[in-house]
Amino acid sequence: MLERPENGERSLLLHIGLKRPCYEDEIQEFRALAISAGAEIAGEICARRDRPSPRLFIGSGKAEELADQVKETCSELVLVNQPLSPSQERNLERLLGARVLDRNGLILDIFAQRAATHEGKIQVELAQLEHLSTRLVRGWTHLERQKGGIGLRGPGETQLESDRRLLGHRIKYLKVRLERIEKQRELGRRERRRARVPTVALVGYTNAGKTTLFNALSGAEVKARNTLFATLDPTIRRLSPGELDEVLLVDTVGFVRDLPHELVAAFRATLTETREADLLIHVIDASDPHHGDRRRQVEEVLDGIGAANVPRIQVYNKADEVERRRPRELDGSVWKGVNWPKLWVSAVTGEGLEELSKVVRTRAVGEQVLGRLELGPADSRLRAKLFELQAVRAEQSHESGGCTLDVALTSKRWKKLCIQEGLSNDSFQRV
Ligand code: GTP
Repeated sequence: MLERPENGERSLLLHIGLKRPCYEDEIQEFRALAISAGAEIAGEICARRDRPSPRLFIGSGKAEELADQVKETCSELVLVNQPLSPSQERNLERLLGARVLDRNGLILDIFAQRAATHEGKIQVELAQLEHLSTRLVRGWTHLERQKGGIGLRGPGETQLESDRRLLGHRIKYLKVRLERIEKQRELGRRERRRARVPTVALVGYTNAGKTTLFNALSGAEVKARNTLFATLDPTIRRLSPGELDEVLLVDTVGFVRDLPHELVAAFRATLTETREADLLIHVIDASDPHHGDRRRQVEEVLDGIGAANVPRIQVYNKADEVERRRPRELDGSVWKGVNWPKLWVSAVTGEGLEELSKVVRTRAVGEQVLGRLELGPADSRLRAKLFELQAVRAEQSHESGGCTLDVALTSKRWKKLCIQEGLSNDSFQRV
């Protein structure tokens, strides 16, 4: 169950299917988005149209039915599952006597509520202002409210009184700040590349369990909530701290179908973390009956942001909730001819996580080799280096002053060490 905040805004949902009826999963998803934004759902209406009418999107008969429902349910807000043009939104508002918000506006509102870091806030503000700027002509005063509300959060209230020129200035200013942050991020990425620290990004449909998995794999405690878009800002941690080779794990923003393009543009910096990762863990909620569709939608977004070629692992999470369907599900998920490795895990019970860690490590860092090294008294620098790398599993000292070390290293690291320390391959006996 999704979190349902108390005292939400009374809202009527309008689900419109274009050239077909609305599918149940779309209805459910839109409902979940509304609840995530804090709406109290007072009623729902479905409509079907061959094409949007320019004035109201829906036909006038449907609009009257909607107006009656608004009155009957005392709704303050009508949420429409399709993108509306500014004039359609305005005409509907006049006719219904209630605020109207389309799907993009709703998603932007959820993002505005969730953004926690400086960067996240700027990104959302920028996306909201760009969305607002096309709607300014309408004279916002009739909607101005003291307390804000769904679609009026974030920059909304102060900007409502501003004119287009001020808005333009603010957008420009935010873009400059964002560019600066982007540059800092790029420096961080460059440093990681230079230090050859592999980065693994968790991606997936919103609510798939990325944050829970991120916590389980990294031992971090980032809050996981049963709500959409709980994570907006990329968080970075080490995968299984204490392990030999460093792998960085990045938790990213959840995806949803048809992400508003203003958002994709504003979150470019965040999404770059995904595009530049060495490996993606695509988290799929196996307990979701529509996980096949969701998986494809995520893959489409990944293609769209230029991450099509980043190697990935498909992780079917919430295995504790589905027992029977596993083998068949795993066979069918080929994307554009690539059959990515697949694993079943439960971030909650821990099932499959050890295996996942191993697969991630092997793919991101390379295979680990276990071996034995005989060191003489003069090799103290090498010994110190191996300890520094946390590669030593056991040590046996000899009277001669030398020692035998049991070490675990990735083959890549071993090769590097051989070059740095002038070692030959024979000095390492594999065990
Ligand atoms: P966004 O931040 O919205 O993108 O969500 P997310 O993908 O980070 O999901 P999150 O980790 O916040 O988890 C969503 C919900 O799924 C929470 O209620 C978790 O407790 C639940 N959940 C995550 N993993 C599992 C699992 O393995 N089994 C079960 N039963 N529930 C899980």
